[in-house]
Amino acid sequence: MTRPAVLVARAVFPEVLARLRTHFEVDDNPDDVIWSPGELSQRLRGKAGAYVTGSERVDAALLDANPQLRAVCNMAVGYNNIDVDACTERGVLVTNTPDVLTETTADFGFALMMAAARRMAEGEHYLRAGRWTKWRYDMFTGSDVHGATLGILGMGRIGQGIARRGALGFGMRVIYHNRSRLDPAVEQPLGARWVDKDTLFREADHVVLVLPYSPAAHHAVGAREIALMKPTATLTNVARGGIVDDAALAQALREQRIAAAALDVFEGEPKVHPGLLEVPNVVLTPHIASATVATRRAMADLAADNLIAALTGGVPPTPVNPQVLGGR
Ligand code: GLV
Repeated sequence: MTRPAVLVARAVFPEVLARLRTHFEVDDNPDDVIWSPGELSQRLRGKAGAYVTGSERVDAALLDANPQLRAVCNMAVGYNNIDVDACTERGVLVTNTPDVLTETTADFGFALMMAAARRMAEGEHYLRAGRWTKWRYDMFTGSDVHGATLGILGMGRIGQGIARRGALGFGMRVIYHNRSRLDPAVEQPLGARWVDKDTLFREADHVVLVLPYSPAAHHAVGAREIALMKPTATLTNVARGGIVDDAALAQALREQRIAAAALDVFEGEPKVHPGLLEVPNVVLTPHIASATVATRRAMADLAADNLIAALTGGVPPTPVNPQVLGGR
């Protein structure tokens, strides 16, 4: 029996690639070239499965050019790079990698928030630039994390992980905004309180964004929301680029209308808004919130498990559009 052909669109752990090769004819991208949409579509010709990361766009045009495609397995929990409705309409399974990155990403979100609050990156740049000549009482004074109010926009698995760290580890008061209120059994151990979005921006000392990207979430945080924040507050984004209006944020930081920000994701990344590069009061990291060796390996394995199950008659562990499976 001929084995299904799949495309692994980006470089991945050799062990994971080797496992995929035991099931499939694998076309891969060992040099991790960033293909244009046309090149990606071309490479997908004749492939039953695509193993992609959050950087590859899978849209209706690509699906129409590749009607043989059966499964698109994303090595990311977020899947806004994939037009899921277009996949579902065409019977293409989409999978993602939830759960395995929750705690790692929550660690990083909390660390970024702390780095902004305590001006760690600013202090480090100052030291490296050879500008540290004496101790001074007000040098890099920031704002406290312990005992402060943590405001979480998007209280899913990762948001709850950050809330746990804040409430249980740092004695923070947790407020959150989500489309729907959590079960009181989840809120209660964290002392977490649902508030409307504007109240979150007004009351929080440290706002952390962990909501999924959707067109409705585009610029959910813009000049208006930032203007609601306390001048001493910080804003951290570990969700997706495009949720924050980066130009508005750069301007607010420049004018010190909020104290600081910390960003792991950017509009149009890997490009970064030049205004953000010019201001000192923002910590910038290159989309690495899930980047520990163990977690990236777990994500890669889960994406492979999904692809193998999807194309060999198994049950994919983490489908995004499971209704497609019922129709097979
Ligand atoms: C990373 O951003 C992910 O969605 O896993």
